[in-house]
Amino acid sequence: MIFTYEEGATPFNEDDADKLIPNHIRTQHQLNEWEQANILVAERYLFSRKRRNILTIEFINRIHKKMFDQTWKWAGSFRKHQTNIGVKPYEITSCLKMLCDDAQFWVDNQTYEAEEIAVRFHHRLVAIHPYPNGNGRLSRLMGDTILYSLKNKRLSWGRISLVQASETRQEYIRCLREADQGNYADLLRFAVS
Ligand SMILES: Nc1ncnc2c1ncn2[C@@H]1O[C@H](COP(=O)(O)OP(=O)(O)OP(=O)(O)O)[C@@H](O)[C@H]1O
Ligand SMILES: [Mg+2]
Repeated sequence: MIFTYEEGATPFNEDDADKLIPNHIRTQHQLNEWEQANILVAERYLFSRKRRNILTIEFINRIHKKMFDQTWKWAGSFRKHQTNIGVKPYEITSCLKMLCDDAQFWVDNQTYEAEEIAVRFHHRLVAIHPYPNGNGRLSRLMGDTILYSLKNKRLSWGRISLVQASETRQEYIRCLREADQGNYADLLRFAVS
């Protein structure tokens, strides 16, 4: 299996790349399709009814596991290696705990509109980058899960799949970089577009 990487994708560590569950996959295209089918199972679970205690490390792990459990042996387990973006492996748990607590505070105090809570949570989660891969897709889905729990519609995230290279993906990455500087306006506009 040879992996190809779009701009902003996290390259695999060799250890992690070895842990692919299906053994018939040869191309990135096949892998993307397989992962997408796996992710649909998680989406069906998430949006069939309101889930409780979503702003917890246990819940985030459970969702990553559900999204990738037919694909990767490390589904639902934090990474052990440094990635191009993301905190040091031993800082993942404490950073996630702070994020969950902050987000619970935003929800309880209506600090921001629901969409902005979802977008800020997504941006902070993908910046922590807890897993070897799938952090972008997990973070977008978690943003949508927060909105669903607040009785809002899911975000459209540019309306097309962000997995393949496209102008939309480039714009998404540009907005994330702006958000890295603390400017959330463009990412918010992108997420609802
Ligand atoms: N410069 C950046 N600043 C902040 N976040 C970034 C940056 N570059 C990439 N990202 C985020 O990292 C994600 C890629 O991480 P990873 O490969 O773990 O997730 P993924 O779900 O496999 O990716 P994707 O959904 O993009 O195919 C991107 O989707 C994006 O959300
Ligand atoms: Mg990736």
